Amino acid sequence: MTTGPAVRRLSAWDAERLRGLADEYETPLYVVDLERVRENARRLQAAFTDEEISYAVKANTTRAVLDTVRETGLGAECASAGELQRAIDAGFAPEDVRYTAVNPPDRDLDHVVEIAADNDVVVTVDSADTLERVADRGFDGRLCIRVLPGVGAGHHEKVSTGAAPKFGVPYDRVADLAADAVDRGMDLVGLHAHAGSGISAEDMDAHRELVSRMGDLARDVVDDVTDLAFVNVGGGLGVPYREDEPPLDLDSVAEATRAALGDVDAQLGIEPGRYVVADAGVLLATVNTVKETAETTVVGVDAGMTTLIRPAMYNSYHEIRSLAPEAADRKTVPAMVAGPICETADVLGRDRQLPAPERDDVLAVGNAGAYGYEMSSQYNSRPRPAVVAVDGRESSIAVRREELADVTRLEPWSE
Ligand code: LLP
Repeated sequence: MTTGPAVRRLSAWDAERLRGLADEYETPLYVVDLERVRENARRLQAAFTDEEISYAVKANTTRAVLDTVRETGLGAECASAGELQRAIDAGFAPEDVRYTAVNPPDRDLDHVVEIAADNDVVVTVDSADTLERVADRGFDGRLCIRVLPGVGAGHHEKVSTGAAPKFGVPYDRVADLAADAVDRGMDLVGLHAHAGSGISAEDMDAHRELVSRMGDLARDVVDDVTDLAFVNVGGGLGVPYREDEPPLDLDSVAEATRAALGDVDAQLGIEPGRYVVADAGVLLATVNTVKETAETTVVGVDAGMTTLIRPAMYNSYHEIRSLAPEAADRKTVPAMVAGPICETADVLGRDRQLPAPERDDVLAVGNAGAYGYEMSSQYNSRPRPAVVAVDGRESSIAVRREELADVTRLEPWSE
């Protein structure tokens, strides 16, 4: 049982193996390495020894990944009725499953309360309204309150959460809402907050500040309202997307988190998503056009913003590597890797240095295991790619490739 290296770089993937997968399953293709998922989960468990770790399934909900994560003993954090259903279907024990409401549609709450009715799923409410709405549906189970802590962090303003008014109950109203929940006969077991996603070593001050505020709040609630089973300080552990970026030192993050929480008679919880799956996945794409322009070589590939939206949406950097067998012998050229979508933003990487690309080369895009397939779409009527799971020498399809017919499948007018 190894916890593996702290980071798995794109350069460490076996090029021949990846080329073989591209041949066998065609591209665009997501590859997810289940052993790396296990290593990441174990490394978290080795650092956060006494804490509760829930995998934020939104990062990657494919069943192959959920089954693998469940077997490691992590719990599951779910942001919708659909994610909750997936976690239950994958066999997570209900007491290890948390549902975190975000302005939940009625349809979600109906389903969530039905699932939570006969088990110990924790329902986290994000507002006084959501508390009332679950109460109206007869919910009297394990409840948690999501706090708006007023401290945010993350790799991009679009994923910084902790100071965004959209999320959680304002800090100074939590104690009253907690008392209200207990008055209603609910089993208030926890408090929750999330600073944001992609927290780096530089964001540690914000992280500590958030955790320390949560410690203060928990002590107030425990003193005045009820005992708590846990205080969850969210996910957000960042991973290095660039080859020269250092990984987080998990042990010191764990230590800092415990120290910032202070003395609270409740278990500390975290809910990482990205950390568990990001470097367990790569995206494979095939070069279909090579065009020289005055500024750069434009490398057209069969994957784009509908396959991996992070570069277009957050300007995220993903390493790109040529898997051409003789790549090392080619001269390096400045390149832009662009997809097949009719949008200027449809670029996977700009200002790269790549071995002179040729048609039919396979390229690998790194750190694609988190928020990759999960955020894919059918824009431009483009079927979603396939996902293949590898485990040691084995490989098998985890998600089948969509076909053209899947794009119109839900339209009665096209039958
Ligand atoms: N818990 C809560 C309440 C969250 O909202 C999130 C992420 C997580 C946990 C997990 O965060 P993680 O450990 O994965 O950073 N699509 C964006 C990330 C959005 C994250 C949303 N919430 C991206 O590709 O960077």
